Amino acid sequence: MSERARVVILRELLPAGRERLERSFRVESLGLDATREEMLAGAVGADALVTDLTFAVDGELLDAAGPQLKVVANFGVGYDNVDLAACGERGVTVTNTPDALTNATAELALALAMSAARDLPGAERDLRAGSWRGWDPRRWRGFELSGATIGVVGAGRIGGRFMELVSGFGGHRLYTSRRRKKNHLEEKLGARHVELDELLRSSDLVSLHLPGGPETEGLIGERELGLMKPTAVLVNTGRGSLVDSVALARALEDGRIGAAGLDVFAGEPTVPPELLAAPRVSLAPHIGSATFRARDEMSRIVAGNVTAVLDGRTPPNPVS
Ligand code: GLV
Repeated sequence: MSERARVVILRELLPAGRERLERSFRVESLGLDATREEMLAGAVGADALVTDLTFAVDGELLDAAGPQLKVVANFGVGYDNVDLAACGERGVTVTNTPDALTNATAELALALAMSAARDLPGAERDLRAGSWRGWDPRRWRGFELSGATIGVVGAGRIGGRFMELVSGFGGHRLYTSRRRKKNHLEEKLGARHVELDELLRSSDLVSLHLPGGPETEGLIGERELGLMKPTAVLVNTGRGSLVDSVALARALEDGRIGAAGLDVFAGEPTVPPELLAAPRVSLAPHIGSATFRARDEMSRIVAGNVTAVLDGRTPPNPVS
């Protein structure tokens, strides 16, 4: 049965995973530019769908695929694009790709933190525009992370790894999390578990590591930004929906927070124009997991999850 099963990759899976699927299944890939209509048509008759965070996996798509559909393998650790209830009602297993991207995403959060703290994009812009007039003791002064109080919001795998990376800066470490991480974060890294408001008031750097979805939408808005230090740096590599971008742009404009580093945006790939215009902000096009190692491994994990379900086994990474 698995010999003939049909796997539809609704956008693209890297060869590291696709070639593995092609050895056992009929595989079709719709490509990065597939429209919603092409996805609905392409999904018909699929036993497995390979999906990603850029489009909704909802009842309409599942029904278009048909009742033989067994698995939605999401290429990414986040799955806020997938309607889990709709999948559950139709008996469709949902999987994701955790772990493979932990280091890559935590490292990008650190890169954005350091870039934002020193406004590297602004400095480079000036240099390229020819406005550098030589070494200047007054210009381009930023913030140091050494000795800083660093707050991690959401202490899952990526938040935990970020905490490990920044522990070399000394200073203090705070975190919020539904569940306390006594061994790893508290005993090993000396971090203190606090409520969000306290973390925002006390931190020089705040890094967001939460999933998207209704529970976390708008977590950082006008009120929360108002609690932060005027020198604080805010980093978001989780989901754009966590932060009110208009309120953030205003806070940067008014100097109510120090700087921001953002890899994710509500409504991607559109970047809110107010953020493009804001000062002291480092921006990246959702590249948290974009290392050769992470993306290849994520692709292999997708293939492993699809293969397991189509072979009648429990997949390594079910989320439902
Ligand atoms: C990327 O954002 C992911 O969820 O893997």
